[in-house]
Amino acid sequence: MKNSHLMISALVIGLASCQKNSSMSNISTEKQEVYGKMPDGREVKIFTLTNKNGLKARVTEYGAILVSMETPDKSGKLADITHGYDTLDGWLTNTSYFGSTVGRFGNRIKDGKFTLDDKTYTLAKNDKPGGIPCALHGGLKGFDKVLWSGKPTATNGVELTYVSKDGEEGYPGKLTVKVTYTLTEANELKWEASATTDTPTVLNIVHHSYWNLSGDPTKPINDHELMLAAPNFLPTDAGLIPTGVIAPVADTPMDFTKSKVIGERVGADFEALKLGGGYDHCWVLEKGDGVRLAARLKDPKSGRVMEISTDQPAIQFYGGNFLDGKTAGKKGVQYAHRTALCLETEGFPDSPNQPTFPSPVLRPGQTYKHVMIHKFSAE
Ligand code: GLA
Repeated sequence: MKNSHLMISALVIGLASCQKNSSMSNISTEKQEVYGKMPDGREVKIFTLTNKNGLKARVTEYGAILVSMETPDKSGKLADITHGYDTLDGWLTNTSYFGSTVGRFGNRIKDGKFTLDDKTYTLAKNDKPGGIPCALHGGLKGFDKVLWSGKPTATNGVELTYVSKDGEEGYPGKLTVKVTYTLTEANELKWEASATTDTPTVLNIVHHSYWNLSGDPTKPINDHELMLAAPNFLPTDAGLIPTGVIAPVADTPMDFTKSKVIGERVGADFEALKLGGGYDHCWVLEKGDGVRLAARLKDPKSGRVMEISTDQPAIQFYGGNFLDGKTAGKKGVQYAHRTALCLETEGFPDSPNQPTFPSPVLRPGQTYKHVMIHKFSAE
């Protein structure tokens, strides 16, 4: 009697667990765990979002970083398609902005200074492309290197907030920032930023994940096919600062208005590519109201596709030119040259210094908004 009773219980438990496992892929789930501790002892949480199709996004409070993004290939095989680290300690060494929420001002500001309302502000010159110092990505300790505060949302997401105090990294105004990641049943990962300030300031908050849709971080992304809905781009000087010219892409290796294989023209004898050491430029998107398609990226082998839509005026396509194989990331992989790329929807780089560019100024009473939707599929 006893044995058969035990056997029945085991059977029930077994059924329950496989029911749970099989039901796991049929519902959205949201889980939060302790990821680790900051050097000063503060606890850091990590949130796991899944949807009914098995996609999985992990987001941590440190840097409001997308830790991983798992999507299926054309045969349904899931893989993480982002560069990064396996642990919080790894992320604390992140100097490539893997997965990061970047700010207060993403991208570059010439000579590390700008003037706003007749006052000049000086920023850290923390980058020197072509040997020319500038401010990059919010400074020495930008938004990617601070601890945000996260909580689950009611719609399979996580809302992260951070208060950047007046004068932080040289920027004026106390800025209250919110970033929300949402994983939808339509296989979209939405990244939405908003901010308010108590004093006029400048900002350009950017999401900076490195993508390799093959799911193999050792492979270069040269075979990926890219479309950018952008008839123009911003040529730069040797310091990767836009010259102010808005140049047509037509008849140049910068033309991605029709999908092109990235590696096909990256070595072309074209000044912008030589100055950038490859693709590392701001493309000016077709004008349009609200959220519209900005980019489509496909890895032909796996069939994975990522479409990016945004409400922003521009997108930075950075082809991973600074990856040098010296950074050991997830599973100990040394991330080699151009093994991932970034597609960062954004305002214009150096816009605080370029009055002909869309203004980056936020004033009290206004709300900054930035919507970026990554839609994943496979074909
Ligand atoms: C942006 C810039 C690149 C590089 C990366 C971070 O994408 O455009 O030049 O600085 O950030 O490595």
